[in-house]
Amino acid sequence: MTSPSFMRPLLALAMGHTIVALDNGLGLTPAMGYNTWNDFRCSPEMNAKAVMALADKMDELGLVKLGYRYLNLDDCWQLEELSDTGELQPDPVAFPEGMKPVVDYVHSRGLLLGLYSCRGWKTCAFRGASSGHEAIHARQFAQWGVDYLKHDSCWASGERSAAFAQYAAMRDALNATGRPILYSLCGWSSWYSPEGAKLGNSWRISADCDEWANVYVAVRTNELLAAYAGPGAFNDPDMLLGSSPNAPAHLTPMQVQSQFSLWAVMAAPLLIGSRLLSMPASDLATYTNDEVIAVSQDALGQQGRVVWSNCPPYVPRDNWWNSPWSMPFDVCCMWTRALATAAAVLFTMAATCRRFAPRCGAYVLLPLGLFCALYIAVLWSFRPRTHECQQVWARPLADGAQAVCFVNFAQAPARVACDANCLGAMGFSKGGTVRVRDLVRRVDVPVTTLGDDALAVDLEGDGDSALWRVLERR
Ligand code: GLA
Repeated sequence: MTSPSFMRPLLALAMGHTIVALDNGLGLTPAMGYNTWNDFRCSPEMNAKAVMALADKMDELGLVKLGYRYLNLDDCWQLEELSDTGELQPDPVAFPEGMKPVVDYVHSRGLLLGLYSCRGWKTCAFRGASSGHEAIHARQFAQWGVDYLKHDSCWASGERSAAFAQYAAMRDALNATGRPILYSLCGWSSWYSPEGAKLGNSWRISADCDEWANVYVAVRTNELLAAYAGPGAFNDPDMLLGSSPNAPAHLTPMQVQSQFSLWAVMAAPLLIGSRLLSMPASDLATYTNDEVIAVSQDALGQQGRVVWSNCPPYVPRDNWWNSPWSMPFDVCCMWTRALATAAAVLFTMAATCRRFAPRCGAYVLLPLGLFCALYIAVLWSFRPRTHECQQVWARPLADGAQAVCFVNFAQAPARVACDANCLGAMGFSKGGTVRVRDLVRRVDVPVTTLGDDALAVDLEGDGDSALWRVLERR
């Protein structure tokens, strides 16, 4: 397990190393808050007034008291171009008075404010980004009183050492400001995990979660990464999704609950992505369950592990931008639209160009058009899908209990049971006396002795789950 972040610089010095860790003492438990991306995307409605209303709403819904302290503005708060002196420029229509008054207001409501930038030369939505301007931008964030930075990875080298160097440049720039700013890397790849604790407080391990299939991809990717997480440094399988059908991305209410329970057991950041200003009651009930939050925020900071699974082996895939197998739904639609337009243009040109160059249609344009059409077919046939399988995850808690999450990824209902090996993997012994609580339903479960089928639940298909807290009385 990683040492607490405030210890890392001291340890590094004691070992005669130069300090290469983020020296901010933040994020000892997974970050909790709200992020605009799954609510607003780049809508002009994400403006100063809305941010203030969001802050009020977080307070009014009781989220702040429960620990949801970060209000994070994702992409599109900034203009496409940097200023002549290399600074990020808040969109003057959305934020006419700049960022400082907005940050001050958010602080006045007992919240912390997060902003978004990118290690590339543009953000994913093609706004101004931080490549080569890390020091200037870190100073801007500190002057505005920003508390959190999500740093994305678009329009940048996919090569690992280049990525680490760019993320380290922003880490050092943030350190140099002297302001503690939680640093959240967004590189969508599991190969960040072994380096993650040296670079930031959390790091994205997989593609964007914008549908249940990508939640599955994130969970399967994370099952190999528990060893890299600890207080101050967590794997990030992406933000939470709500269930509003009119949100840019959403799950069913049952899947919202399952994502939340799994995220708690995986010690993942809990960043709400539901429609905050008109949140469905079921999402609110899920996010305000303090017994599940207590699992997420457990002081040990240990990421859970898979203790039972009948899922096929999983090999994490990277480079989602052009890889159909891990591509977010949004990106898949974007490629489809672009390729379909290209194919239509090429087919039309092929039909007319014969008049000028007799062979151009048959030899050049038609094959290109067919290639586009074929690529669309490949995209949709290889898009991520869940497997017909179930898993049991377990996370050790500070008081000796285990938080146990049973999940059914299959379409059909299934009974999921923790067998003798599964009990052993949690350090339980068969015949042991236990106290079991269902944390989602908030009731005690009448199981007192551990046997083969003692920890078992019947789950609906397509993403149902249960989250139990099991304490063995010794
Ligand atoms: C990437 C990130 C998302 C979001 C968008 C913004 O796709 O993975 O979480 O920040 O960029 O453009």
